[in-house]
Amino acid sequence: MCSVSTFSYLLFYALFTVLINAQCTNPTIRREWRTLDRDERAAWISAVKCLAASPNNPDLVATIHQTGMFLPFHRWFVHSVEKAMVEKCGFSGRFPYWNWTIDAPDFYESSYGVGGWGDPDKDYKVQDGAFARFALKYPSYHPMHHQYTAQPFAAFAASSPTFAQDLAGTRPATTEDCIPGNKWSPNSPLFFLHHVMIGKIWSDWQNLNETSTTAFAGGSVQAFDNTTYLAEYPTGAPPMLNTSSDIYTHNMFPGVTIGDVLNHTARYLCYVYE
Ligand SMILES: *[C@@H]1O[C@H](CO)[C@@H](O)[C@H](O)[C@H]1NC(C)=O
Ligand SMILES: *[C@@H]1O[C@H](CO)[C@@H](O)[C@H](O)[C@H]1NC(C)=O
Ligand SMILES: *[C@@H]1O[C@H](CO)[C@@H](O)[C@H](O)[C@H]1NC(C)=O
Ligand SMILES: *[C@@H]1O[C@H](CO)[C@@H](O)[C@H](O)[C@H]1NC(C)=O
Ligand SMILES: *[C@@H]1O[C@H](CO)[C@@H](O)[C@H](O)[C@H]1NC(C)=O
Repeated sequence: MCSVSTFSYLLFYALFTVLINAQCTNPTIRREWRTLDRDERAAWISAVKCLAASPNNPDLVATIHQTGMFLPFHRWFVHSVEKAMVEKCGFSGRFPYWNWTIDAPDFYESSYGVGGWGDPDKDYKVQDGAFARFALKYPSYHPMHHQYTAQPFAAFAASSPTFAQDLAGTRPATTEDCIPGNKWSPNSPLFFLHHVMIGKIWSDWQNLNETSTTAFAGGSVQAFDNTTYLAEYPTGAPPMLNTSSDIYTHNMFPGVTIGDVLNHTARYLCYVYE
């Protein structure tokens, strides 16, 4: 299993203006990658590259995985990056997601796709697709690597006490964050496609039952002491979080509470899935 208690997230340094619409009257639409046409894919790829070339301020180090912060944090993080793409890079398109149940072992590789899994003979540097030889600046200048292992968390998932725990163990299908030491999974564009998918799974679950739409539970500390403790606190141990808890941002993007992101069709997020 790949357990990483703290993550360094590459965070794009952006001067945000006021992000929050008083109302959500015209929600943006998030769609599966393969349903976007070539122009829509190209617009997203271009905005990702634009933002990667912008000055950035890295190092948000916080315990996000296997805690109650997992879903709310990523929902707000992806949204904040999308806002930066809009404001700094003129992005006006649809932010896509990748439904990896369709094709996890074989993601799209054309020049309008995000590229393959890296060439093992070239240290897994990505050689094809729109992100071939994509250059990253954090932590120092380097080309992007993708090393894919099919179902790396299958054993972990099988032993997870709950679906929520299983979900919080989900990672982008790259070794970016699965080799010893902190890696920078948001360096890969797949990180965002993956986390929008995770957000959709949460959204689908929220919509199953009206009780779920506002449900939230989870702690702020990983409960890895022993299996009993983990079974008791699968989504994080005390101190417990609640809907008034602030989402971690290190002042790199505007702060909101967990309660502010439970409803993605309301004013803070304002998007729907199609
Ligand atoms: C992913 O695609 C499969 C196959 O089309 C579909 O059954 C499933 O609902 C999709 N998952 C999400 C979260 O949209
Ligand atoms: C909705 O969730 C509540 C609380 O978990 C449960 O009591 C209820 O039976 C659920 N309703 C449906 C229709 O599943
Ligand atoms: C498991 O962890 C809990 C919380 O830290 C502790 O109270 C308990 O004694 C531990 N049990 C074992 C068997 O170590
Ligand atoms: C949320 O948690 C904070 C910090 O533990 C606590 O002060 C506050 O009373 C809690 N709010 C609710 C509504 O439970
Ligand atoms: C979510 O927000 C939208 C827009 O404000 C609102 O119409 C909807 O009722 C909200 N859903 C819940 C569960 O509060």
